[in-house]
Amino acid sequence: MTHFGVTLSQYIMEEQRRYPDATGNFTLLLNDIAVSCKMIAAAVQKGQLANVLGATENENCQGETQQILDVIANDLFIKNNAKRGHVAAMASEEMDDVYPIPDGQPRGNYLLIFDPLDGSSNIEINGPIGTIFSILKTDKKHPTEADFLQEGVKQVCAGYCLYGSATMMVLTIGHGTHGFTLDPSIGEFILTHPDMKIPETTAEYAINQANRNLWEPPVRQYVDDCDLGVGGPRKKKYTMRWVGAMVMDIHRLIQRGGVFAYPMDSSLTQKGGRLRLMYEANPMAFLVEQAGGIATTGYERILNLTPQKLHQRVPVIMGSKEDMTILLDNHKAYASETDKEFKHQCPQYQ
Ligand code: F6P
Ligand code: MN
Repeated sequence: MTHFGVTLSQYIMEEQRRYPDATGNFTLLLNDIAVSCKMIAAAVQKGQLANVLGATENENCQGETQQILDVIANDLFIKNNAKRGHVAAMASEEMDDVYPIPDGQPRGNYLLIFDPLDGSSNIEINGPIGTIFSILKTDKKHPTEADFLQEGVKQVCAGYCLYGSATMMVLTIGHGTHGFTLDPSIGEFILTHPDMKIPETTAEYAINQANRNLWEPPVRQYVDDCDLGVGGPRKKKYTMRWVGAMVMDIHRLIQRGGVFAYPMDSSLTQKGGRLRLMYEANPMAFLVEQAGGIATTGYERILNLTPQKLHQRVPVIMGSKEDMTILLDNHKAYASETDKEFKHQCPQYQ
């Protein structure tokens, strides 16, 4: 049955009215992103029937083997956006360097950064996967990597598309976090989850427990306390969930509360963390904050970090306000006992 609601394009056009000087370029860019995600969803849904499962022989610059679908999703994003005149340059998890708009093509004022297919290890097992994107502005016609290295607070838009049992686009342009569900019968994303708010309290956390012995003490303390259940300091029974695809794990916490953490651990100190700042941590932090949650490295608000390089990795802890406050208090106390600096400043935690 068709759901008669506001379509994603109608929503974006309504938002455009807030800005009398808007050229319409941003609206068209979001439309091209939505088209790219619909095409990826179509490939994902056909799975093995379309011969798109399995690995390529290549590694990306992160040293991860590229899956066939990683490459297809990346190409779709590039093809759908390169010739449309809305972006000045693009960058992706799957490309070592910035992708400049080819000479002779029209250029816009936006920088588009994306993780074309997040949670790639779920592809083969028919598990949930997603696309994450972030949009920044630039006044450069030939942007370089340095122009991408803007703080997360400067994002004009962030979103993800979840290829789960239904396909959903969740996005923010700084006025709340809104969810749209793809109606495959009409090929439109329909606003089904307006102004999503993360419940402030929770009894659910998502973390890769296999790394437990490697975590920093503030995170281990939090999880140990949760695991003590009704007899412990939290006085309630907790549940652990880990899908292994950030898009799904974050979507769950935006919908029903929780904590998601890929914190610093002793095996990651050289790398700086596991998840990537520009196309994983920053866009998710923007979405989570707009839904009333907190997003931190443990010591600093993610959106305030000054990026050093395109593929920079950072520790990530985000979610419901109450548990995030406990986690931040743990980090603050640990920082005062060690030589670490705690400078987390965000509207939700002072
Ligand atoms: O993109 C990185 C990613 O696939 C995330 O989506 C996910 O949260 C994480 O890696 C899973 O890591 P691990 O395999 O160590 O649990
Ligand atoms: Mn990813």
